[in-house]
Amino acid sequence: MRSLSLPVRTARLTLREFLGSDLESVMAYSGDARVTRYLFFGPRDEQASLDHLNGILDSQTERPRTRYELAVEHTDTGRIIGACDLSMIERDVLDLGYMLEHGSWGQGYATEIALALIDAAFFDLGAERVISTVDIHNQASIRVLEKAGLQWEATFRKARRAKSRWWDCHLYVIARTVWEAQRRRP
Ligand SMILES: CC(C)(COP(=O)(O)OP(=O)(O)OC[C@H]1O[C@@H](n2cnc3c(N)ncnc32)[C@H](O)[C@@H]1OP(=O)(O)O)[C@@H](O)C(=O)NCCC(=O)NCCS
Repeated sequence: MRSLSLPVRTARLTLREFLGSDLESVMAYSGDARVTRYLFFGPRDEQASLDHLNGILDSQTERPRTRYELAVEHTDTGRIIGACDLSMIERDVLDLGYMLEHGSWGQGYATEIALALIDAAFFDLGAERVISTVDIHNQASIRVLEKAGLQWEATFRKARRAKSRWWDCHLYVIARTVWEAQRRRP
């Protein structure tokens, strides 16, 4: 069974396993309504953050492991600035996600994370496709997916009902063949 080689390091960030001691950081970003505006959950209060963190810690020991939800740590400062994840939704298909504290937006971090996790999904986990679904109004995330090489594949109207409304979502995808071709490009 393949596994993700951790931590994943980028130029500025360390994507590492969550620890039980990370609760305050989890509350800080996922308790912020600006951060969860386009997410199906949240904002999370202390109890919801604790439940979520415990779920992540449980998932770390699952075998086979189907979910890697990782803390995004700024390498220089050691601060947690958000979370990212790769989750297996079908054999060889991984779903990519990320969220950052509001103060860290607009500095290219999410693109750095997405590129690193896509490489890890294809290299370490042997994925054939990496996908991501995004609310059609979430322009920043759509831009991140495009910068990371994913392509629009479909739009689902009323894809999900959450937080008392229906959500229209785009599906973005990168296939292994496309990723390999992008890597060969000078
Ligand atoms: C989405 C999110 C992760 C982006 O993080 P980030 O580190 O700011 O992203 P980057 O800096 O790598 O890139 C953002 C891009 O979106 C663009 N952008 C930001 N807001 C935008 C808007 N309202 N309209 C159009 N483009 C926008 C930026 O200009 C940048 O593109 P550029 O490099 O071409 O200028 C961050 O906003 C976030 O955490 N949002 C809340 C959680 C969330 O929505 N997660 C995604 C769920 S699918």
